[in-house]
Amino acid sequence: MLGLLLVACTRTETIPTGPSLKKTFADDFLIGTALSIGQIEEKDSLADALIREQFNALTAENIMKSMFLQPEWGKFDFALADKLVDYGKKNNMAIIGHTLVWHSQLPRFVYRLTDKDSVSEFFTNHITTVASRYDGKILGWDVVNEALNEDGTMRGSIFYRLLGEDYVTEAFRLAQLAAPNTELYYNDYNIEQPNKRAGAIALIKKIKEAGVRIDGVGIQGHWHARRIPLKDIEESILEYTALGLKVMITELDVELLPRNFTGADISERMKMKDDPAFNPYVAGVPDSVQQQLASDYEALFKLFLKHRDHITRVTFWGVNDGQSWLNGWPAPGRTNHPLLFDRDFKPKPAFYKVIEIKDNLN
Ligand code: G3I
Repeated sequence: MLGLLLVACTRTETIPTGPSLKKTFADDFLIGTALSIGQIEEKDSLADALIREQFNALTAENIMKSMFLQPEWGKFDFALADKLVDYGKKNNMAIIGHTLVWHSQLPRFVYRLTDKDSVSEFFTNHITTVASRYDGKILGWDVVNEALNEDGTMRGSIFYRLLGEDYVTEAFRLAQLAAPNTELYYNDYNIEQPNKRAGAIALIKKIKEAGVRIDGVGIQGHWHARRIPLKDIEESILEYTALGLKVMITELDVELLPRNFTGADISERMKMKDDPAFNPYVAGVPDSVQQQLASDYEALFKLFLKHRDHITRVTFWGVNDGQSWLNGWPAPGRTNHPLLFDRDFKPKPAFYKVIEIKDNLN
């Protein structure tokens, strides 16, 4: 990390000692990351320096979800979200709101609601209050997150069950009213997969046919080493673009540890057998595996660059490997290495490979 910081040469001159993702891809798309609570509070100076140097778009990993913003019915706590928005403004970085409507990480009181009117009141009030507060201050909102099942049907969330299948359109309608100057996105994992993609396309068409605004779609991008679905991703970029939408990769990471299913449904868990094979890289990643990760990221960024006219942002789900949610899911207590920076904030071979693609084009 230290090698990446700007080093003062003389009083008037500085030289960069390493490349920066946001500078390298400045003409292509925004490069984002997800910030933890500690990072928003600027508690770790190494993380802070890396964030400022490498990224120009920020998503809150957790604190803009409804359980944090509205911990009690009608009582909002905007302290951390406001801090993130100020941080973005100060550093000239775009802020992405994540997320207005999600079945997970809801305030505790919502799980106790059983009637349509109460859920509708929460839904309307939450979207309106939160989206209007940040209108004009953030670039976009993940209005609805993860509304679909793997087969493309609607997930039976509390919103679907009590408000009916039009709740997604209704969420965008409310967000559009409250935040006329903010981009509005649908965000989900595995929506590059054909069945789920068809469901997403149907959902988007429905929103548009109702005369409601949707500006973009976020393909989360929780993928697995050696199994990146490049063909599906490319087809998806083209199909979503054909609907007139911006495409974003919103939660990118490439998992290295064994897993017996794909996706990011946090209700799924994997039992870790008492076998080191389930957690093989506790002491570090062998070179061959680093090279595999590098070649997977290389293939992804080549594809993103090929479609740079359609992709507006690529956001990594975390700043460094130590922060990644994949250390605790789908099995707790593992040591995962899915990002471009290691636990010491040092760039990994995958980082240099991603930078090199651009260098080789110039
Ligand atoms: O807030 C509590 C804290 O009070 C408590 O002390 C601590 C003890 O475990 O837990 C804290 O809550 C954790 C929360 O993150 C905030 O840090 C939860 O246990 C933990 O499960 C939760 O995980 C987050 C997960 O969403 C929850 O669904 C991950 O950090 C976050 O990376 C992940 O992000 C999601 C995206 O929002 C949507 N797409 C999938 C992606 C990965 O699951």
